[in-house]
Amino acid sequence: MDWGKSNRMNRIIRPKTGRTLMLAVDHGYFLGPTTGLEKPGEMVKQLLPYADCLMPTRGVLRNCIDSKIDTPIVLRVSGGTSILNKNLLHEGITVSIEDAIRLNVAGVAFSITVGTDWERDTILGLSQLVDEAEEFGIPVVVVTAVGKGLGKDARYLSLASRMAAEHGASIVKTYFCENFEKVVDTCPVPIVIAGGKKMPEPDALKMAYDALQAGAVGVDMGRNIFQSKDPVAMIQAVREIIHKDANPKEAYEFFKQKCKE
Ligand code: 5RP
Repeated sequence: MDWGKSNRMNRIIRPKTGRTLMLAVDHGYFLGPTTGLEKPGEMVKQLLPYADCLMPTRGVLRNCIDSKIDTPIVLRVSGGTSILNKNLLHEGITVSIEDAIRLNVAGVAFSITVGTDWERDTILGLSQLVDEAEEFGIPVVVVTAVGKGLGKDARYLSLASRMAAEHGASIVKTYFCENFEKVVDTCPVPIVIAGGKKMPEPDALKMAYDALQAGAVGVDMGRNIFQSKDPVAMIQAVREIIHKDANPKEAYEFFKQKCKE
């Protein structure tokens, strides 16, 4: 692997543990002012010390995040539809590779929607992005987005994850499911899981733990952190699982303790 790309990968996935805690704050690109991210700069500022990597859009990055930070950025570079559109996540490239480089990113993120009428568009968009990003040694994180009506089982997620890797993903972001080992084992690149909709903290911590046990290298978690009753405590608890091998019970005890501080 080219030195630059290898260096960027090592900034995203920490070499010390081989894992990563990515903080996803890109939701506004199709959800607008998502609960918890009404003022993204303020939320991100308090969580950043505990994140290995931040995943924003370029609008939030430029307008709300201090350029003095040294947290690596995986920039959301796909979009095109909103939550109101019946063709949800019919996405194309929304940011040029030049602008991503100008923003000094460690990686770029693109969503594909396998199993929809527009899957071909998203796969071709991904392939174009990979061509452009590879030229500059920039890893592409591919999100196997799950649109309305699509399943979140191992059969579907392993199909989508494997397709993402076959089309050039350096990292795949997908959802946790039963038999997640199958998804990981049949995907030749590292996998991180999305958190998905907000759930009770012990459940989210267990999901992160189970995903790592199944072979994921980490999480790219958003709502289950920034919509927690205590986001700072929650991100630290997730960190205990990712980098300190805490089990879900230990991590939840840690969360409760941090909530009291
Ligand atoms: C959409 C996305 C999200 O915008 C986000 O990154 C998901 O994070 P979470 O589910 O943990 O809130 O990837 O496909």
